Amino acid sequence: MRRKLVAGNWKMHGSLALTSELCEAVTAGKPYDVDVVVFPPTLYLRQAVLEVAGSGVGVGAQDVSVHAQDGAYTGEISARMIADCGAGWAIVGHSERRADFRESDHDVGRKFAAARKAGLTPVLCVGETHAEYTGGHTLEVIERQLAAVLEHNPIEAFVSAVIAYEPVWAIGSGLSATPEQAQHVHAFIRSQLGKKDANISLLTRLLYGGSVKAANAAELFAQPDVDGGLVGGASLNTEEFVKICRAAGT
Ligand code: 13P
Repeated sequence: MRRKLVAGNWKMHGSLALTSELCEAVTAGKPYDVDVVVFPPTLYLRQAVLEVAGSGVGVGAQDVSVHAQDGAYTGEISARMIADCGAGWAIVGHSERRADFRESDHDVGRKFAAARKAGLTPVLCVGETHAEYTGGHTLEVIERQLAAVLEHNPIEAFVSAVIAYEPVWAIGSGLSATPEQAQHVHAFIRSQLGKKDANISLLTRLLYGGSVKAANAAELFAQPDVDGGLVGGASLNTEEFVKICRAAGT
């Protein structure tokens, strides 16, 4: 049985004060019937870890370096450093990093491996652009993105890992995928994993991301292969985020 998970990706938003405010509200909203993880900007990671300590709420980074070993990589932050700060999770391959920072499928595979090596739980993001969607290439894109990660990692690396399907056209657009669209892609992702290992495919949590809000969360999360959500904008609104966490628990 897969336990539902709601993750809040704050992206490049926040301050010391907002980190406190969001952490306090998320922990005060407990108990949840689901796992909850927040992904603040890396600079506020340690603060968030201390603020949610003992609450059961997890903390993760929005990205990790491809380099697993320390070295002369100015500006980079390794998975080991993230784990050292007490965080347990890392998003890898978010579409904003793929598009704006030219991260390749190959880079994402290396980041997934670096996160695993440091003991972090990776949240691997996959998803098609609007042009790929309208061109009917969604499943092909997902297959390619997953295959690249599997090239750098054995299927066992997916044990307890999380995959987030985030159609790029739904991110920040207010235009969520329908529950049926999300379910269709999630079932495909599970079948791809299942070709390697049926058991692991059944245990891997698959999140949907892209304009998730309190108003649409329950019907998205009710789909059999939608195990929760990766929430962007709505995770900065504490009332809304807590409602989404509750929707996942019902
Ligand atoms: P929105 O919820 O703002 O559409 O963002 C989704 C996302 O990119 C989460 O990683």
